[in-house]
Amino acid sequence: MEIVVDTGLILEKKYDLVVLGLFEGEKVEGAAVEIDDALNGGIYRLLQNKEFEGKLKQIALLHSHRKIGIERILLIGLGKREQFGQEVVRVASGRAAQLVRDLGLKRYATTIYGHTERLTLSQIVESLVEGIELSLYRYDHYKTNSETPAKKVEHLDIFTGVPEVVGEIQQAVSTAQIINRGVAVARDIANTPSSDATPQQISEQAKQIAESHSIKITVLKPEDMAKLGMGGILGVARGSQQPPRLIIMEYGGGSSNEQPIAIIGKGITFDTGGISIKPSDKMEDMKFDKSGAAATIGAMQVAAELKLPVNLVGVAPLTENMPSGTAYKPGDVLKFANGKTAEVISTDAEGRLILADALSYTSKFKPQAAIDLATLTGACVIALGGAASGLLGNDEGLKRRVKEAGEATGERVWELPLWDEYKEQIKSEIADMKNVGGRAGGTITAALFLSNFVDYPWVHLDIAGTAWTQDGTPDKPYHPKGATGVGVRLITEVLRRWTK
Ligand code: BES
Ligand code: MN
Ligand code: ZN
Repeated sequence: MEIVVDTGLILEKKYDLVVLGLFEGEKVEGAAVEIDDALNGGIYRLLQNKEFEGKLKQIALLHSHRKIGIERILLIGLGKREQFGQEVVRVASGRAAQLVRDLGLKRYATTIYGHTERLTLSQIVESLVEGIELSLYRYDHYKTNSETPAKKVEHLDIFTGVPEVVGEIQQAVSTAQIINRGVAVARDIANTPSSDATPQQISEQAKQIAESHSIKITVLKPEDMAKLGMGGILGVARGSQQPPRLIIMEYGGGSSNEQPIAIIGKGITFDTGGISIKPSDKMEDMKFDKSGAAATIGAMQVAAELKLPVNLVGVAPLTENMPSGTAYKPGDVLKFANGKTAEVISTDAEGRLILADALSYTSKFKPQAAIDLATLTGACVIALGGAASGLLGNDEGLKRRVKEAGEATGERVWELPLWDEYKEQIKSEIADMKNVGGRAGGTITAALFLSNFVDYPWVHLDIAGTAWTQDGTPDKPYHPKGATGVGVRLITEVLRRWTK
């Protein structure tokens, strides 16, 4: 979407529609006052009659009847001032944007609403633009729609009456648009059906992104993995006709002697469960099992476009998990890149097996911190639902950074313990460990399994409940149906705050 910052006098503007935000139980303020005067108190009367109260997401549409150059005024409720924050701006601006699109308008304007001491102008504008573009995202790649072309908003004016802050607003718009494009990359990859988004196809796409962003990329093929002893990825891939890949993306925004931060993402392009096959109900959702890898690629693009002053390495193991005559089986023992072994109890606990190799491989970069993202356990969906990703890790400082970024971005996380007590559950009679620890504490035993493969500060994010809209997903305008792109904004925020 084209976004332009516009200044001048609001009553001289010719907009098809302008959005005004109002707090619950408060009078109109800012540009709204002038508009309301010109409309002979039309907004005031709505408030008086309690036809519009400013409750969060509440909406009212007024026509100006040519009294001013602006044709329509869309009021959007911001809720109570005490509860105001960046998340409110994202939700309100997103709700308004969707309504404008459904009206069939191609262009509209918005004021910057909800001024408060707690937030900077840049923070409000970033949230505004995030809410709008992320809410207007649609995955319509496979819609032919030749007769009724999809309604699409093409242009947005962001109005400010203060010419001095135009530069600051433009900067915030451009930052937010970079982040939104990264989220869209992640959503597109995760939403793409598995027969099109194969390991090979995704690595080609990652190559294109890398080449256009001066990111170094290495893509390992099965022969390379065999040399490195990656029995986890190769084991899971054995049932599939699609050869696996391991993508390694390197971005150098920091000084050359600085250790990198690593991002590792689970990339199961489709999870049937393998020989331990899943029930068919909702199995189509398992195309989203590559959401961790998708977020990794999206976040790498954002970091490069924002020119963040950090060194980064993104690692994504990609394979299908299929049953077949060549598939790996329960009872098999796999040996990973760091030399450890695991007995396979369920071929459906495949994410931890491919991550074992990816996390071991990451060790060679001696990362100062590492964050992995994985749609790892159904147990995490049961524990936390869709409002938070599970967080487990071995480093208090890194955990705190991720939690703070979670609150700021609305991509919230909630910690579960990574205590040694639970290790008992994944002891094996014949190998170093087994890949399933029973139903109890399933998210924790999965993370403990992973902890065998890290020798650096590390946080694991279980995004099984947050990676796509499913039962229990909080209803937010900026989460249209399908992949959410979770992790891209969270990781970006961790990185933006890294040096601060
Ligand atoms: N990709 C799934 C986890 C998943 C399931 C995410 C449903 C979102 C919704 C993962 O590979 C898996 O199958 N995990 C198993 C592990 C079990 C066999 C120990 C699970 O959670 O059932
Ligand atoms: Mn599985
Ligand atoms: Zn899986």
